[in-house]
Amino acid sequence: VLGERVYLRGHRAVEAPSLLDLRLRNREFLEPFEPVRPDSFFTLDSQHAQILGAEQAWRHDEAYAFGIFDKATDAVVGRVALSNVVRASWNNATIGYFVDHEYNGRGVATEAVGLAVKFAFEQAGLHRVQAGVMPHNSASLRVLEKVGFRYEGLAERYLRINGVWEDHRIYAITTEDWERLNDPDG
Ligand SMILES: CC(C)(COP(=O)(O)OP(=O)(O)OC[C@H]1O[C@@H](n2cnc3c(N)ncnc32)[C@H](O)[C@@H]1OP(=O)(O)O)[C@@H](O)C(=O)NCCC(=O)NCCS
Repeated sequence: VLGERVYLRGHRAVEAPSLLDLRLRNREFLEPFEPVRPDSFFTLDSQHAQILGAEQAWRHDEAYAFGIFDKATDAVVGRVALSNVVRASWNNATIGYFVDHEYNGRGVATEAVGLAVKFAFEQAGLHRVQAGVMPHNSASLRVLEKVGFRYEGLAERYLRINGVWEDHRIYAITTEDWERLNDPDG
């Protein structure tokens, strides 16, 4: 999925070293925002397995995980994933993302999340994408607002982040919102 400054695509198995490098460079930065990761996660084997798992999930219509690549250098600068895909009358996925701390504040997450939502609606045929954000994560809340997500409410003790069941603000966007946002006359 091609944007102005970044593009999204699935990681290839041979790219496990660059994914590991991204994870290692951002290990401390991401710790307050993620589940507790065992040391074994930060290994080539584990990152390789993550890539293969993501490919399988993609084929089974369970999740769509992308690397965020800088168009100018082709460097991987983050990840964004549509997960927990449920079809039938829900047709919903959850979205998660992070951007390399050295690339923060340049609009990378905003563009990447927008591209992932575009993929969700225009290629994966989903109807709704949901995000959950801890109330103090101002940068992430801002990203969702900029993309056009709506605030739906507070989910208490929603996800176990860094060992604690943290409240999350639930945001969502549906195809109806997306069409309105992209309506040139609207
Ligand atoms: C949240 C995250 C994805 C943002 O990535 P990014 O590429 O810097 O995001 P963008 O540059 O597209 O937009 C960030 C916005 O937040 C704003 N922002 C940054 N820090 C802020 C703060 N402390 N308070 C308020 N706003 C803040 C920026 O000014 C910008 O808004 P603007 O364009 O109106 O100025 C990144 O910091 C990250 O990976 N964080 C850790 C993981 C995480 O939180 N993931 C999301 C979990 S829900």
